[in-house]
This record gives sequence, structure tokens and C-alpha cells, in this order.
Amino acid sequence: MTTAAEIEESAAAHVSAGIAAIAASRSLEALDDAERELLGKSSPLNKMREAIKDVAPEERAVAGKAVGAARAALEAEVADRRAALSADARAESLVHDRLDLTIGGRGYRRGHLHPVTRVWRELEDVFVGLGYKVAEGPEVESDWYNFEALNFPPGHPARAMQDTLYVKLGRPEEVLLRTHTSPVQVRVMEAQRPPIYSVMPGRAFRRDTLDARHSPVFHQIEGLAVDHDITLGDLLGTIEAFIHALFGPDINARFLPSFFPFTEPSAEFAMTCVFCSGGGCTVCSGTGWVELGGCGMVDPNVFKAVNIDPEEYTGFAFGFGIDRLVQLLYGIDHIKNLWDGDVRFAAQF
Ligand code: FA5
Repeated sequence: MTTAAEIEESAAAHVSAGIAAIAASRSLEALDDAERELLGKSSPLNKMREAIKDVAPEERAVAGKAVGAARAALEAEVADRRAALSADARAESLVHDRLDLTIGGRGYRRGHLHPVTRVWRELEDVFVGLGYKVAEGPEVESDWYNFEALNFPPGHPARAMQDTLYVKLGRPEEVLLRTHTSPVQVRVMEAQRPPIYSVMPGRAFRRDTLDARHSPVFHQIEGLAVDHDITLGDLLGTIEAFIHALFGPDINARFLPSFFPFTEPSAEFAMTCVFCSGGGCTVCSGTGWVELGGCGMVDPNVFKAVNIDPEEYTGFAFGFGIDRLVQLLYGIDHIKNLWDGDVRFAAQF
């Protein structure tokens, strides 16, 4: 049998020893340890609390009060000490962990647009400056827009499986990945009546084998002007204007007769080789000129396909490769460098 007086005595002793232990704790970790020993599950105080049941019933309240008071006193002591140690730790860190704002931060490199995106946008800006609107069309096209409405005869080699990537949809060879941006001409002419001045940039797809200047996926920009009295002279002047805007006045345009089913007459156009300024080098195979794309006067059959009267309106169209232009602008010898996804390469431009 334990008495209330014994418990009172032990509690008082535990409190005075505890106060000394708390005061002796020099760190927050040491205080945590002391707290666990003084107030935790296996602390003497807990044992005293368990011993209350052995005290005579009439004395239990006194014993319980003594244990409760001891716990409260120690808890208050721990709280005070914790506040004091925290304040010390904070004061210490203010002295030692000072942030030196004069050191300066670590610089970070900002990314930038891919060179093809940049030239794509520059081209849009040049043509918007000439009064053109920008239009876009789908990359998955029907035979009608990509070939039929553009006056390609049924047996034309471009319609063959070895040139065009067909999609398994609809009738055989009805749906395809567009092989050029020219189908957007048809869509623009269907959607609006002349006067039309539009450029149509976008991605095109061909079953071309990868080489220095050909990729199965590439970019073109299409141009279309339809109005009263548009002449071949307007076409040549427009192409010359954009080449001068992009490369400066010393770079010229050259036109050679060619054939496209959707233009008549048709021409291929080239610009002065920027690497040798027209003198002849390996890039231009010694000719002084680099081919950019095709152009011509809109064929009357194309106008008929979109219900525009060829007796009333004339128009010109052109289309050239954006990737190729980027290769020329930045001296990139192989087109695949543009699309390898190597950030060390793209970061140079
Ligand atoms: C055409 O695609 C015609 N649609 C251009 C045109 C438009 C003519 C309007 C008349 C009126 P061509 O197949 O020549 O034409 O391609 C034009 C340009 O696209 C080429 O000169 C070249 O710069 C680029 N090109 C063609 N195929 C590839 C390819 N596989 N990889 C990269 N660029 C290509």
C-alpha cells in the first residue's frame, strides 16, 4: 500500500530534479530528450500516476492532485525553456546564416524559337506588310484539294503511291498527307471571293528519301493573289520584293520556265546564292543561284473548280520551302540538322 504523502514527496522531488534537468538542456534536441524522460510513458511521474490506485481511497484525490501539479509545473518549465532555446537558435542563425544579397544570383539561359519558326514568322510579317492575310489549312487532305481541284490529271506521277503518303480512310487513295501547301489556295478561294491576297504557311509530307535538302516532312509557304488585271509582272515584282526584304537589295531573283498543272505559265524561281554572292560555289553547284520554289499564273481550270470566272479575274501563286530558306540563311548544310531535336544545335541560332 502506498500513501498520498509518499506520492506527494516523490512528486516534489521529481519536480526539483526535473527543473534542474530542463535548465541544463543546452539545445532543443537535449530538451526533447529531457521532456521524454520527465513526462513520457516510462517516466517516474507516470509510475506515480499508476500507483494512485494503490493509495487508500480517501487519500487518492490528494495523491492525484500532487501528480497533476507536478506534471503541470514540469510542462510549464519545458515550454519556457523551449521558447528561450528557440529564441537563441534564431538569434544565432541571424548572425551566422545571413543572406548576402550582393553576391548575385545564378544566371539562367532563356530558350528561343526554333530557326524554322522564326523564319516562318518573319515571312508572315513581310507578306502582311505587303497587304496579305495569313491562312492555314489541314495537313490531312483529300485527293480533291491536293490534286483534283489543282488540275492534276489522273495519271500524274505525284499521285502515285511512291510519292504521296496516303491515309487509310475513305476510298483507296482518297485521303492523304498533303504533299504541298497549294491545296490551301483552293480552300481560300472557296471561302472568299476576289480580291484575294493570302499567304499560307504549313507542313507538307512526301515519300522523299532524306538527303541534304529533302526531308519527308518539311515546310512550305504558299502565296496567292487574285484580282482584276493581275499580271506576270506583279508576280515577279512580289517575289523580288520579299527576297529583298529578307536578304537585302544585293540578292536578286531569277525565273526559269517550268511546269505545274495549276499554273500557266509556270516558273521555278531562284535567288542569288548568299554564300558566294552569285560568284559560284559548292552550295550553288557553281551556278550562283539557289532554287527556292515554284510559281506561275493561276490556271483557268483551277478558277473553274472554285467558281471564279477566269474571264473576269486573273491571279498568281507561288510556293517555296521554308526549311530550305532557313538552310540558306544560316548556312546549314543538311536539313536533318534542323529536325534532330539536338538543343545544342538549335541554340546556335
Ligand atoms: C510545289 O510544291 C508547288 N506546290 C509550288 C508552287 C506553288 C508552284 C504555287 C506554283 C504555284 P515543288 O515540288 O517544286 O513545288 O516544291 C517547292 C519547294 O518546296 C521546293 O523548291 C523546295 O524548296 C521545297 N521542297 C519540296 N520538297 C521538299 C522536301 N522533301 N524537303 C524539303 N523541302 C522541299
